[in-house]
Amino acid sequence: MPEFETTYRVLRRRGEPDVRSLDAYRRAGGYTALETAIREQTPERIIQQVIDAKLRGRGGAGRLTGEKWRIVRNMEDNQKYIICNAYDADPRAWAVRSLLERNPHQVIEGIILAAYAVGASEAYLFTRNIYLEGVASVQRALNEALEANLVGRDILGTEFNCTINVIGVDIGFMGGEETVQIALIKGRRGMPEQRPPFPAQYGLWDKPTAINCIETLANVPVIVRSGAAEFASLGTEMTGGTKVLTVYDYVPDSEPKVIEVPFGATLREILRHAGYNRPDSDLRAIVVGGAEGGALPTSLLDTPYDYDPLEEAGAIVGSSVVELLPANTCMVAWAMDRSNYLAIESCGKCVPCRLGVKRIAGILEGIVSDLGVSGDLDVLDEFASYVPNGSLCGFGVQAPNALKTAKHYWPDHFQMHIEEQQCPTGTCIPVRAHRFVTKHVLP
Ligand SMILES: Cc1cc2nc3c(=O)[nH]c(=O)nc-3n(C[C@H](O)[C@H](O)[C@H](O)COP(=O)(O)O)c2cc1C
Repeated sequence: MPEFETTYRVLRRRGEPDVRSLDAYRRAGGYTALETAIREQTPERIIQQVIDAKLRGRGGAGRLTGEKWRIVRNMEDNQKYIICNAYDADPRAWAVRSLLERNPHQVIEGIILAAYAVGASEAYLFTRNIYLEGVASVQRALNEALEANLVGRDILGTEFNCTINVIGVDIGFMGGEETVQIALIKGRRGMPEQRPPFPAQYGLWDKPTAINCIETLANVPVIVRSGAAEFASLGTEMTGGTKVLTVYDYVPDSEPKVIEVPFGATLREILRHAGYNRPDSDLRAIVVGGAEGGALPTSLLDTPYDYDPLEEAGAIVGSSVVELLPANTCMVAWAMDRSNYLAIESCGKCVPCRLGVKRIAGILEGIVSDLGVSGDLDVLDEFASYVPNGSLCGFGVQAPNALKTAKHYWPDHFQMHIEEQQCPTGTCIPVRAHRFVTKHVLP
């Protein structure tokens, strides 16, 4: 494993030249990828390079970016769109802010390269309007790029045109979901849509649309500049390149560390790189994937960070937030807090998600209050499969991860609360005076 410090590809490290201005970005080799691509390479060649680089979507689902682009490219339609997902649904994630504020031109170059590859002439950068500094930074960079003929009409003197519109919205967690973004750009209520058809076929205004995470797009200039093989030389067999992570210690209100690590780095290596060298005995768990992530015990700290191994363990890439829980955490209470938060963030379109997550939180509140009965565990299991199966989008699919991992890795915490009416760590405060009625029939 090469030293992490030498592997940053999208983040700017402390002490590195500031590339926020066009001149500085160009001095660092910026926009040479766009010039080479647009003058010397076919769109199909770029798509193939992105596939060979094993670039998988950084927004969570982990699909091969080049394959998504090929679908858009092959659609017979003269109007296509790019949406750069620069939202960061999880309020504790810092990747988008870091990229917009400190490396806006690399994001713009990635968007234009994607547009050239799929044949789009209009792009939207969809962000949160609370990212004041990030929005200002990317607007400044866009003005410079427009003036230098890197965006807009007849880019670099060719016949290729692409405009970029910046849209800032704030509707909470669901604003990060792709079909919600399409609805919001169209001025509709932000709720997810049934798929298929996928946005790559029928997206914005029913036209083929490539929606990509901002981090995915920021990696594209690196691939075109240094080649697919060089890009894939970092990472794993399945996933090329690096991942930006926001890592939290368990000390309340501590500042997170925003770092970039190669895929395949173990969770332990990630913690070390973030500067958290705590003994395992200080920790209850490491939560991987942010608000919808799963909690893993310290015995799994040697798990490599990649889509499949994380999923096998019960966690996800998700919002790329990694956080530590201290050894005195009661995992029933932790799962309850998570479920309560997610119950508020559910958009409510799908009944299983709207009511199911709330119900999970309610049953956990009962257990935390020592009002639980053993039948509660079966009902929780039912909800853990009923919510994902009945939800249109990934929110409901991932919402029970906290419950599932807490129950799987710490069954003793549930047992102690239910059988002995005691918190395993002596930290729980009753939150309910009455039991939730758990006997019911699920549809
Ligand atoms: C509830 C929810 C929130 C999401 N939030 C984000 C987000 O903040 N950023 C993001 O890039 N993708 C997010 N996604 C995934 C997007 O819907 C979409 O899959 C992604 O932007 C595709 O880009 P990629 O292929 O580059 O990963 C979210 C999905 C769901 C279900």
